[in-house]
Amino acid sequence: MKDPAFLKAMVQKIRARRVLEIGTGDGTSALAMAEMLPDDGTVLTCEINAGFAMLARKRLGRSPHGRKVEVLVGPALETLRNVTGPFDLIFIDADTRNYVRYYHRALELLAPNGILLMDNTQGMALGPVDPGQDPAIAAIQELARLTESDPRISAELMRVRDGVLVVNRMGEAAG
Ligand SMILES: C[S@@+](CC[C@H](N)C(=O)[O-])C[C@H]1O[C@@H](n2cnc3c(N)ncnc32)[C@H](O)[C@@H]1O
Repeated sequence: MKDPAFLKAMVQKIRARRVLEIGTGDGTSALAMAEMLPDDGTVLTCEINAGFAMLARKRLGRSPHGRKVEVLVGPALETLRNVTGPFDLIFIDADTRNYVRYYHRALELLAPNGILLMDNTQGMALGPVDPGQDPAIAAIQELARLTESDPRISAELMRVRDGVLVVNRMGEAAG
């Protein structure tokens, strides 16, 4: 699992209260973000794999901050239909092929001053790829075209983790 220091810093910087995560894994990033939230803060985290969800819940149960985290099991695109915003921070770290769909849903769920973080986006910096050969990178590059022309947001690719795209709404960047 990847170093969660960047996520912790972002939660702290924007003084997040409500966080949404796609891709729980073993719960490392969810717990790291929960540690930076106030007592009444919450992390909703989506995981498709019941085994990972169980592992994460065990891990969360060993920390006093684990009570702030709720693991929702199922394919995230379905789970997100029943989730209610707004969220101060949304972190997407799973199912890269569907990043464009997550992007659209995340903007509906994001608070006006919220921040959207999309991990595994370093493929934006590569040359064009054949979608048949690499659908995940092709999805990332479609996302790049979309975010470059979306007047509602500004986006910057950070060289942390596996490339994190940081998305702010225009005129509402976190201070
Ligand atoms: C890279 S790991 C998440 C790591 C975690 N965010 C961390 O940094 O500690 C991606 C996780 O997303 C889950 N996943 C993959 N596709 C998914 C989907 N469609 N919906 C929800 N979870 C999914 C995988 O089972 C895996 O546990």
